[in-house]
Amino acid sequence: QGKGKPNVVSSGATKVKLTVNGKDHVLMLEPRAVLLDVLRNDLNLTGCKDVDDRTASGADTVMIDGKPVLASSRLAIQCVGQTIQTVESLSDGKNVDEVITGFVKHDAMQCGFCTPGFVMATRAVLNKNPKASLEEIQKQLGGNICRCGTYHGITKCALEIAKKGGA
Ligand code: FES
Repeated sequence: QGKGKPNVVSSGATKVKLTVNGKDHVLMLEPRAVLLDVLRNDLNLTGCKDVDDRTASGADTVMIDGKPVLASSRLAIQCVGQTIQTVESLSDGKNVDEVITGFVKHDAMQCGFCTPGFVMATRAVLNKNPKASLEEIQKQLGGNICRCGTYHGITKCALEIAKKGGA
């Protein structure tokens, strides 16, 4: 046995500051905490969905520093210093992002489980290019899956906004 305390890196909770939807949150999190779980369980932001554990569906799409990211693919501690945006940020109770109203208009949801992820992915496409083409929209939404088959309505919504030149 060596002298003094063993050189062990703690796996216990540590203080982590996350910036989510414009607010800073200081949380005690284990280094292994996954962003999706922290958003849903610690911050009660349940828009992003926990569909699978292999980041295969896109239902957990959020934006980090403006880019679409699967929240189940990141550890929370990886997101320190970054700006995290969830679907909840697209409505303040009075004003609703036109991607959301467009989904309603074009009947782009059935069970709705994939919808928050698609809304965020669609918003990300249109932020990147407010006049996105059909090909760009389809390509950039390619990582999101809808088992109910609402792709047509989602594409129509995105294209309609893109034709107006974006919000
Ligand atoms: Fe049901 Fe997309 S609306 S999975």
